[in-house]
Amino acid sequence: MKTTITAIKADIGSIGGHICPSKKLLTSVENYIKEYKKDLIVDYRISYTGDDIAFLFTHFLGKDNKDVHKLAWDTFKYGSEVAESQGLYGAGQDLLKDSFSGNVKGMGPAVAELSFKERPNEPFLFFAADKTDPGAYNLPMYLSFSDPMYNSGLILSSPMSKGFRFKIMDVSHTENDRLIELNTPEDLYDIASLLRDPERFVVESIDSVDSGEQAVSVSTTRLRNIAGKYTGKDDPIALVRVQGSFPATGEVLAPYNIGPYVAGFMRGSHTGPLMPVKQNTSVSFFDGPPVVSCAAYCVRDGILTEPVDAFDHPYWDQVRTRISEKATEIRKQGFFGNAMLPYSELEYGGIVEKLDKLEQQFYNRDKDVLSEVEETDMVS
Ligand code: 13P
Ligand code: 13P
Ligand code: MG
Ligand code: MG
Repeated sequence: MKTTITAIKADIGSIGGHICPSKKLLTSVENYIKEYKKDLIVDYRISYTGDDIAFLFTHFLGKDNKDVHKLAWDTFKYGSEVAESQGLYGAGQDLLKDSFSGNVKGMGPAVAELSFKERPNEPFLFFAADKTDPGAYNLPMYLSFSDPMYNSGLILSSPMSKGFRFKIMDVSHTENDRLIELNTPEDLYDIASLLRDPERFVVESIDSVDSGEQAVSVSTTRLRNIAGKYTGKDDPIALVRVQGSFPATGEVLAPYNIGPYVAGFMRGSHTGPLMPVKQNTSVSFFDGPPVVSCAAYCVRDGILTEPVDAFDHPYWDQVRTRISEKATEIRKQGFFGNAMLPYSELEYGGIVEKLDKLEQQFYNRDKDVLSEVEETDMVS
């Protein structure tokens, strides 16, 4: 029998702007799940990262199970009412459709799922990020699954030396899912060529070539593409199985000490460094910086251990200090250049209207002067 881990997260309202959910909201959704989970799910955990609430469910019903997704959807719907009753900011923000249609994918919430026959020991990691988008995982996943500078297991462990299969999605293609599958190490430069553009190409999953087993699942939601307008950034989650034929936990965590600049931050329209934080951390400076949390678990027969907070360790304190400095540095240039996202990624209608208006005031020097001369000639 296969165990399925379903992680689903959404922003359904938060205190004091886009900061973090209220205690009452968290307790209410937990009570709702306890009451309605019945025989559907085996175990669950609830956490938050910034203003996003994440559910981690285990069950034996496979990926994309309608009832499991409906449990998450109904809980978020119920939670949105609680958020509204407390006057929370952005109550129901990520629930973009009115009624449930069988799968929460494409309805606003972010989803990552893994289904597998449990190994004799089954460790995995659950990542949740806020104030950024799914491409934020491109660089860490690339480094921990394909670069011996971060993953010494690629040299030291023979199953891993066979490489990994990356499934990459073109998230700008909105009509349907457009995907490409490439293998390490042979397609490394092609993979890098795609992943360098995280607003367009996003790692969706990674499989072990040796075992054929799936190691990684990343949510690839683009809220703006669903809603047709800005509704918040896509604040992505990811599940990663570790050890054995997969990277060791520490090899998956290692690249997060870079604090790479990612899209998001204030109003989902800026560039900021991705800071690894403890679970249940709020955001602050300039509605950020972009944050990522990681909980480590083991699972047996669908029963989860308690989470171990992977970034709650003294090592990460100095990383956070350095990344805070990176955030301060880029904020010094305000709206200018790379500090703000390019026009195509800007999430706000106001600037688009402003630029449309200015567009009409532009003129072409040579052509317009020439036509003025022609007009004068014709009059005389
Ligand atoms: P295993 O060889 O037990 O998988 O452990 C290796 C390891 O995790 C080193 O960090
Ligand atoms: P969220 O996408 O986390 O709701 O943040 C939106 C925002 O505008 C932050 O400034
Ligand atoms: Mg929000
Ligand atoms: Mg958020």
